[in-house]
Amino acid sequence: MLAEISPLFGAVKQRFITLFRGGPCRVVAVSGLLLLLLYVFSFDYRYSHDSPETCPRIAFNWWSLWPPASSGTGTGTGSRTNLSHIVFGIVGSLNTWGSRKPYLESWWRPDLTRGYLFLDGTPNTSLLCPFTCPALRINEDITSWEIYPAIKRPTQIRMVRSILETFRQGDQDVRWFVMADDDSVLFVDNIVQVLSKYDHTKYFYLGGSSESVLSNAYLTFEMGFGGAGFAMSYPLVAAMAQTLDGCIKRYPYILSADYLTYICILDLGVAVSPTKGFHQV
Ligand SMILES: *[C@@H]1O[C@H](CO)[C@@H](O)[C@H](O)[C@H]1NC(C)=O
Ligand SMILES: *[C@@H]1O[C@H](CO)[C@@H](O)[C@H](O)[C@H]1NC(C)=O
Repeated sequence: MLAEISPLFGAVKQRFITLFRGGPCRVVAVSGLLLLLLYVFSFDYRYSHDSPETCPRIAFNWWSLWPPASSGTGTGTGSRTNLSHIVFGIVGSLNTWGSRKPYLESWWRPDLTRGYLFLDGTPNTSLLCPFTCPALRINEDITSWEIYPAIKRPTQIRMVRSILETFRQGDQDVRWFVMADDDSVLFVDNIVQVLSKYDHTKYFYLGGSSESVLSNAYLTFEMGFGGAGFAMSYPLVAAMAQTLDGCIKRYPYILSADYLTYICILDLGVAVSPTKGFHQV
C-alpha cells in the first residue's frame, strides 16, 4: 500500500521543494499567498448579508462551495411565500387621511391583500372606503400610561404600537408583517418576490436606508426607514409583542417611530437586513 503511493508522495515532495527553494523570503511569500487563498475561499460570504447572524465568519466548510448555496431559504419551510402570507399594517391619521386615501387605493387589492389601516379616531363617513381600503382600526388609547406625559411625540408612539396592534388582530397563517405609511405606495408583487427569498421562520427585519444621506447620518444607516415601508418576519413580531411596550416606556424621548422600532428590534439582538427596493423619496 505504502509502496504504491510513495512515488506520488515523492513527486509532491519534489514539487514543494522546488516551490520553496530560494531562501526564507520566498518561503514567506509562498506561504502568505497560500494563506490568503485559503482565507479568500473559505470565508463564508453567504452569511454576511441575509442572515440574522450577521457576524461574518470563517468557515472551513468546503462543502458549502459545492453544490452552490441555495438562496431560496424562504421555500425551506413549507410552500413558497405568496401574497396571502403577508399582513400589511398601514398607519395614517385623521388629519391626512382625506388627501392620502388615493395612494392606498392605488395599490390595495380588495379581498387579496390582508391588513389594517390604523387611524387616531373615526373618520367622517365621507372618508370611509369599505371596499377599496384595508379594514379600519382605531389605535388603542395609552394616555393612562404613567410614562405618557414624558412621551415626546405621541403620534410616533402610535405608529410603533401599530405593529403590536396589527399582530394582535390574530390573523392565521401569517409569515410576514409589512408596515407602511398611508402615503406609501407598495408594489405588492415585488414585495412577495423579495420576501420569498427569506426564511420566514427566522428573525428578519428588512428595510432600506433613506435617500437622504443627512437623515441616515443623523439617525443611522442601519435601519429601515418607515416612509418606504419595512418588513418583519412573524417570529420577530411575536417576540416584539412581548417586549415592545416595555421598550417604548424605556425610550419615551425618541422622536422618530422608525428609529424607535429599529432600537426595539436591536434590543432583541436583530439587525436590519438592508433590502434594495424600499425607497423613501
Ligand atoms: C398561498 O399559499 C398557501 C399555502 O401555503 C395556499 O393555501 C394559498 O392558496 C396561496 N395563496 C395564493 C393567493 O396563491
Ligand atoms: C363630513 O364631510 C362633509 C363633506 O366633506 C362635510 O360637509 C361634513 O361637515 C363633515 N362632517 C363632519 C362631522 O366633519
